[in-house]
Amino acid sequence: MKICVLPGDGIGPEIIAEAVRVLKALDLKIEMEEALLGGCAVDATGSPYPDATQKLALAADAVLLGAVGGPQWDNNPREQRPERGLLGIRKQLGLFANLRPAILYPELANASTLKPEVVAGLDILIVRELTGDIYFGQPRGIEVRNGERFGFNTMHYTESEIRRILRVAFEAAKKRNRKVCSVDKMNVLECTQLWRDVAIETGREYPDVELSHMLVDNAAMQLVKNPKQFDVMVTGNMFGDILSDEASMLTGSIGMLPSASLDANNKGLYEPSHGSAPDIAGKGVANPLATILSAAMMLRYTFANEDAAGRIETAVKKVLAQGFRTGDIYEPGMKKVGTRAMGDAVLAAL
Ligand code: NAD
Ligand code: IPM
Ligand code: MN
Repeated sequence: MKICVLPGDGIGPEIIAEAVRVLKALDLKIEMEEALLGGCAVDATGSPYPDATQKLALAADAVLLGAVGGPQWDNNPREQRPERGLLGIRKQLGLFANLRPAILYPELANASTLKPEVVAGLDILIVRELTGDIYFGQPRGIEVRNGERFGFNTMHYTESEIRRILRVAFEAAKKRNRKVCSVDKMNVLECTQLWRDVAIETGREYPDVELSHMLVDNAAMQLVKNPKQFDVMVTGNMFGDILSDEASMLTGSIGMLPSASLDANNKGLYEPSHGSAPDIAGKGVANPLATILSAAMMLRYTFANEDAAGRIETAVKKVLAQGFRTGDIYEPGMKKVGTRAMGDAVLAAL
């Protein structure tokens, strides 16, 4: 198993270090090689996704990523911003299917800002399209028109892009509770009218899965009101970005939400759903569990090693049951630990 490890910026190196320790502890035949992506790559080479990193990522079976970005690069030209590196690797590797599971571990019922009874037993899978939509649409830019600045982006999807992500959602639902909720804004946006039409057509291929549709504004509200009505939610790149951050709070913290970004052959990039958290970077307090759980997703999806994936997830459950908590999921009476000590606890549980 060849893994390209990209620690990135901010808390990235801190959380990746713990996930790497966990992977090494499993005693699998893993080869890991590190490379630069994001702001650190811009500083070292001028590019957020340098050639050497591209070579390594293309040759690897899977990529494990921390996070990229930070205020020091926010005024760079777009092509020299960390986020461009992330979008570049997703696009180059064809990682169109982003799976973001929002699962509430029972021990964290009080860590959520929602009432325990609203979130208890929560298990939602958000399937986010990752290589299309307004993120990649042309034309885009900021220009002067009629004497004032004019900013514009383009939202678009082809029916084949919509169909393939819908199929990922339906296939996932078949292994879960057989419900897919497709989220769009068809009342306003033509692009998402097509999304809904194709969702309905694709749904006919899956008569044993219940398909529903929801407008994105209502979906944002329903996620807070009654999140357990959802099984699999499928949506476009931008709506999925926003709804998955929202869903993360149902699980107690964004520090708990892993993700897998897959191509058609289960080659994947695995990263926590959160960012580089510049406000806590370098302090050793970030929650590494989303990254560790992303490594488990890597073992499951790319390496089909359910046993090793399960071992990591069981270890995470155990440390939560033992009361170990980073600051983002802390509540009085628990054992407050930093990033490294949380990694130590997971290793001990393994
Ligand atoms: P963020 O997710 O980095 O942080 C939001 C809040 O959540 C912060 O208060 C942060 O401290 C907290 N947080 C995030 N991860 C945490 C963890 N593991 N443990 C404890 N607390 C955690 O979002 P932001 O502040 O909007 O973005 C910061 C930078 O990260 C930006 O440059 C953005 O572009 C980038 N970003 C990168 C990714 C990625 O690499 N996939 C994702 C989102 C944002
Ligand atoms: C994420 C991030 C990225 C996105 C940014 C950093 C490009 O927010 O992975 O959720 O918007 O996809
Ligand atoms: Mn995001």
